Amino acid sequence: PCSPTKRSKENQGRRLLFGDPPASPEKPGSPGPSPRCGGQETPQSSGPARPQLFRQEGTCYQEAKRVLHAAVPDRLHARERETGVMRQFLREHVCGRRPGSLYVSGAPGTGKTASLSRVLLDCKDELAGSKTIVLNCMSLSSPQSVFPAVAQELGLPAAAGRDGVRRLEKHLTAQGPMVLLVLDELDQLESKGQDVLYTLFEWPRLPRSRLVLVGLANALDLMDRSLARLGARPASSPQLLHFPPYTREQLSTILRERLGQVAGDPVLDAAALQFCARKVSAVSGDARKALDVCRRAVEVVELEVRNQTLLKPLPGGDSPVSPVPKRVGLLHVSRVISEVFGDRLAAGAVGGRDTFPLQQKVLLCSLLLLARRLRTREVTLGKLHDAYSQVCRQQHLPAVDQAECLSLVTLLESRGVLELKRTKEARLAKVSLKMEEAAVEHALQDTALVGSILAQGLR
Ligand SMILES: Nc1ncnc2c1ncn2[C@@H]1O[C@H](COP(=O)(O)OP(=O)(O)O)[C@@H](O)[C@H]1O
Ligand SMILES: [Mg+2]
Repeated sequence: PCSPTKRSKENQGRRLLFGDPPASPEKPGSPGPSPRCGGQETPQSSGPARPQLFRQEGTCYQEAKRVLHAAVPDRLHARERETGVMRQFLREHVCGRRPGSLYVSGAPGTGKTASLSRVLLDCKDELAGSKTIVLNCMSLSSPQSVFPAVAQELGLPAAAGRDGVRRLEKHLTAQGPMVLLVLDELDQLESKGQDVLYTLFEWPRLPRSRLVLVGLANALDLMDRSLARLGARPASSPQLLHFPPYTREQLSTILRERLGQVAGDPVLDAAALQFCARKVSAVSGDARKALDVCRRAVEVVELEVRNQTLLKPLPGGDSPVSPVPKRVGLLHVSRVISEVFGDRLAAGAVGGRDTFPLQQKVLLCSLLLLARRLRTREVTLGKLHDAYSQVCRQQHLPAVDQAECLSLVTLLESRGVLELKRTKEARLAKVSLKMEEAAVEHALQDTALVGSILAQGLR
């Protein structure tokens, strides 16, 4: 978004940011002062300093990806009420030896699984005297196979059909410790007549039952739809707990808390983080999606930096593009968001292999190389055709002429990958990339060819 020189002016007298030149340039080859993120940019980076530079950046990107990935965070922002209700329910029912059931609902990514996992970890000691079973119903081949799966967890011999169910019921009403059965992704157990769900939720009501059942599902009305029969006896119908979608503020706090665990300067800039939170909350309020978007944006920047770092000096006196340590910016995030929420490449290239015909791939690679060499996003069609012809020669591929090159550009434009500003003279038409370089490489997907073209560069 901002060139290094501009940034360095903006930030005079402030602490170093990503892309800032160091206050006192290190000698090439000397190690950086600290392994923190976003430290030094080597001025016109001469050889040996680069690997060191990249190691530093690589570390902070990897660290960022790791913290964005964690499934059960130590602290669950904005879920104090929900975790409190769960904890109270477990204490009352499991520790208090009162059979019962809890139905947890909420859209995907609202923190149901993470909250329950957190509570189970926190209450480990209190639950030590009971048997805890956690099953993800997604892994079952059919709704009915929940019964043999539970039997197996309880150490009972597997028995099919009604017999298996009866044996389980006998076991769960016999003397013994309390059994806490957690069924995640409960929506998967919907069956004809809802028999499976009905049977399960009846168990805690059986005389002398020692079962406490917790079901987690996306659907808000699963209980209404499937357990109307249970509802007829409200005193013992399941306790309900709903997880609302996260708001923009909550998502940005979640992201900030996660990324705050990475030492040094922020990997994502504040505007990018806010933008992600705003977009995701507008669509779904799904924390998983917000974390995924940020992780992908970090990957994109990491790849971009690596490509710049590894780019060999160009023969003929041209100075190579210097590696610019980059912070993930709004532009990166916004591109990932359009990728994730489906437009442009999402419809084709990202999903399947080889959705770009060979000539389009070669042309795109040529544009990438030329843009890097000229350090601009916009090149003329004439220059692009020259670079493309050269790449074709290097790769021993047939090249199309300039008129056909224009039609290839038009095809790529209709995919939203390129922008073409037409002029009277075709050769002077302006072509620019509309996507992040790393995203283009990702979309091309032909690592062998693309790798070879990019490694050889332009002569
Ligand atoms: N309040 C929160 N604070 C931090 N991370 C969260 C929070 N809520 C959800 N997450 C993260 O979002 C992701 C999805 O959450 P998850 O509990 O699996 O959602 P659900 O089970 O509702 O689909 C997980 O990686 C989880 O760690
Ligand atoms: Mg879940």
